[in-house]
Amino acid sequence: MNADITVDLGQRSYNIYVGYGLLPQAAELFAPVLKQRRVFIVTDSNVAPLYLNSLTEYLQAAEIQANNVIVPAGEASKNFNQLTRVLDAMLAAKCERSTMIVALGGGVVGDLAGFASSILLRGADFIQVPTTLLAQVDSSVGGKTGINMNAGKNLVGTFHQPRLVLADTSTLLTLKKRELLSGYSEIAKYALLGDAEFWAWLEKNGSTAMENTEMGRAALRQCIIASCNAKAGIVAADEKENGVRAKLNLGHTFGHALEAEFGYDGGLLHGEGVSMGIVMAFDLSVRMGLCPAMDLNRVRTHFTNMGLPTTLPKNGYRPALTSDKLMMHMAHDKKTKDGAITFVLVRGIGKAFLSTDVPTDCLRETLDATLTA
Ligand SMILES: NC(=O)c1ccc[n+]([C@@H]2O[C@H](COP(=O)([O-])OP(=O)(O)OC[C@H]3O[C@@H](n4cnc5c(N)ncnc54)[C@H](O)[C@@H]3O)[C@@H](O)[C@H]2O)c1
Ligand SMILES: [Zn+2]
Repeated sequence: MNADITVDLGQRSYNIYVGYGLLPQAAELFAPVLKQRRVFIVTDSNVAPLYLNSLTEYLQAAEIQANNVIVPAGEASKNFNQLTRVLDAMLAAKCERSTMIVALGGGVVGDLAGFASSILLRGADFIQVPTTLLAQVDSSVGGKTGINMNAGKNLVGTFHQPRLVLADTSTLLTLKKRELLSGYSEIAKYALLGDAEFWAWLEKNGSTAMENTEMGRAALRQCIIASCNAKAGIVAADEKENGVRAKLNLGHTFGHALEAEFGYDGGLLHGEGVSMGIVMAFDLSVRMGLCPAMDLNRVRTHFTNMGLPTTLPKNGYRPALTSDKLMMHMAHDKKTKDGAITFVLVRGIGKAFLSTDVPTDCLRETLDATLTA
């Protein structure tokens, strides 16, 4: 089977396969990158009852032995306790350096299992089997792994590229609608940061891609492939984020600040913070005279049509936010360099660029406008 995308990183290059109902082909697709007929699967308590048995059976049918460990579902599992549990389970199962680790789940499992594999016996290979839209378009590609610390999210981790990514889009059928939509924000992000044509396509086909119909499945696969291609290109150019890779943070400096205030218990999903954050990045760029207001309107309109938030929720839980609190989170973001925040700004749809030069009054106007909208 031909790969849909290859991430071009010399000796560390790897293939990404995207398709509806790919899981039964796991053994065949894994085979070329296995050093032993043996894998160790890391998954979470939501994904395990849905896909762990079937994946294990597909592998065992091809005489690939598969052990596993299950972590509690949720962001809270990205911590040292669970990392230790996962590593202990790997060692108890007598994993060797040539045993392939498999991350079966969303971004939480991918980041945790990826990190564990990168330090197990000084580094074992791993495969990503992403089962959320966010993981299929973003976190499973690019090799960032890690856990959260009291001081903030993802502050400890490694760069460790997977050997393969297998994205079975049929697994997304069991995902909550809100989680699915949240992943769509990242798809929109790729279009908005560098591909105006893709954005125009999304304006026409985005809603279809969220539907479980034949056309919807084809459109979604196209979205995932375009997103992985965009990410693969950026990662190949700047694997360790010394430059252009930071563009992938479009909307994230704002989004992370909002997420931090809401807490990480589902009050505001990552992608919801990102859709609001992207609107804020466009708003700021308009205020700085860099971006046509029409482009900001297009972004707002499409997100609203899709059902993604562009303003703070009117009902339900809403923390007591102030622009000072948001500024404080932004200043602590690990993307700061010599103390200055790197913003991803836009000159229009598809034209993102990095800047450390943002007038505080414009920034405050954007934050205040968001808080009062
Ligand atoms: N490494 C990277 O480059 C990168 C990039 C973006 C995000 N991330 C990380 O990814 C994480 C967020 O990922 P996420 O949104 O996938 O969260 P997640 O892994 O917590 O998954 C969201 C929820 O969906 C459940 N789930 C997963 N697959 C399912 C399925 N097929 N059917 C039903 N339920 C399913 C999970 O159990 C969880 O409850 C964050 O920790 C973030 O920091 C990493
Ligand atoms: Zn993101």
